[in-house]
Amino acid sequence: MAVGIDDIALYIPRLFVDARDFAKARGMDPDKLQRGLGISKMAMVDTNQDPACMAANACLRIMERSKLAPKDVGRLYVATESSLDESKAMNSYVIGMLEQIYGDDSFGHCGGIECKFACVSGSYALYDNSNWIRAGESGGKSAIVVVSDIAKYDLGSSGEYTQGAGAIAMLVNDNPRIMQFDPKVTSTSIKNEYDFYRPFGKETPIVHGQYSNLLYMIQVKKALMSYKEKALSTGLMKLKEGETILDYIDFLNMHLPYSNMGKKALSYLIRHEWRKLPRWKKIIEKMGMEEPIPKDPRGTIESVLADSEFMAKDHEFTKKFAKTEEFQDVYEQKLASSLIASQMIGNLYTASLYLGFRSCLEFEFQKGTDLEGKRVGFGSYGSGSSAMVFSGVIAPEYKEIVKDMNLESEMGNRIKLSLEEYEEIHENKRGPNENLLDSKKEFVLVDVESSPEIKGQRKYIYKE
Ligand code: HMG
Repeated sequence: MAVGIDDIALYIPRLFVDARDFAKARGMDPDKLQRGLGISKMAMVDTNQDPACMAANACLRIMERSKLAPKDVGRLYVATESSLDESKAMNSYVIGMLEQIYGDDSFGHCGGIECKFACVSGSYALYDNSNWIRAGESGGKSAIVVVSDIAKYDLGSSGEYTQGAGAIAMLVNDNPRIMQFDPKVTSTSIKNEYDFYRPFGKETPIVHGQYSNLLYMIQVKKALMSYKEKALSTGLMKLKEGETILDYIDFLNMHLPYSNMGKKALSYLIRHEWRKLPRWKKIIEKMGMEEPIPKDPRGTIESVLADSEFMAKDHEFTKKFAKTEEFQDVYEQKLASSLIASQMIGNLYTASLYLGFRSCLEFEFQKGTDLEGKRVGFGSYGSGSSAMVFSGVIAPEYKEIVKDMNLESEMGNRIKLSLEEYEEIHENKRGPNENLLDSKKEFVLVDVESSPEIKGQRKYIYKE
């Protein structure tokens, strides 16, 4: 049975912080953000927006675009790490908002939960809902998987320039117009880690930045190795002498906490995959530099990071490798188009990978690439930590959906925040009703109850 993504809709808040203004205010070189990390703008929520109303807005868009009635939807899952309640799931708020439009109890037949595993949970939600359809439990209905987050870090921290906000809704069914998932190859890795985490009650995460970068790559590589085993044993891919599975993946989408992380991860995975192939010898000869090895190759992530001689050499090697024609070809062909939206919007945590996929579809289509039958690989990572690698093949009907994709117009008229306004919103100095923008045709938060017996109850309305 062909199961996959039938449609994608996004909701990105219109407020943003410009990376140049930000760098100036923090006394940083703007090139570090723009060239070093690949960040131009970071989307920010207004005071009357939260992850639940962004999720509902993305859902409403997919319902309208795909002309769905509530009876067509059997499951609604929300994956997020910006949870609003320890018990009440975010999809219940979303159902409440959608029922303001479609009528009381119109989604009463629907099921779903809120999923959490940092940025990777949306991928688990997609996989579980695909299996619900494969198991024949869906009764012909579709599932909606929404990924929605606000990436928020402490003022003045090194994570502060990797913020962003937004939601993406994906329609999953057995007649997908965009992409069919490859069956029986989805692979995962998992390990108890503290690279990035947010203890109860804390609004911003505790982050070990460089540790998280390396862990991300190690975990995705582990999942990729398991994907490779499955791809070969199921016959999905048959490798000839000197080939790697990456040769059979036409486009790669990586989790993007900032856009250059995609490039970093690509380089790491290619090095791992090409190292034993004849092509590697030629590249090393051209580069005139051997690949460095840590003092303790079987050491921990901490020992590798503490090996400053190795880290400096490895950095030099990575930079040289990134300049080779061989890397540049793979980068341009397989990854570059997926990074464009991330540069414009920033980190969306759970939604980052899918914003990348959306970006790849739109910008490859604009280039005139024929995507039909092309294989897309996904490298999903969530701190804490787990990775998932999976793939899919673009469906013949993809143009029906992709031809109308336009990130700029779907985001609407974006408004730049001054640094003062940004800091006021960041530090929660404005109440929900002290919003900066007038909203139209979207759900907004109007109140959060404070009296003890109804504390925390949230009220949303649809602004016509
Ligand atoms: P940092 O210390 O600010 O930056 O940390 P850096 O010193 O590593 O520099 C970044 C890049 O800018 C480097 O490029 C520099 O060379 C370059 P690279 O060598 O890596 O290619 N650079 C410049 N380029 C041009 N002109 C200049 C200049 N100066 C430097 N003047 C870090 C960066 C990402 C670690 C930090 O922002 C951070 O901690 N962010 C939050 C954590 C994070 O995003 N981790 C990513 C992996 S973990 C993950 O993705 C999971 C996550 O999404 C959470 C979840 O799963 O829920 C975070």
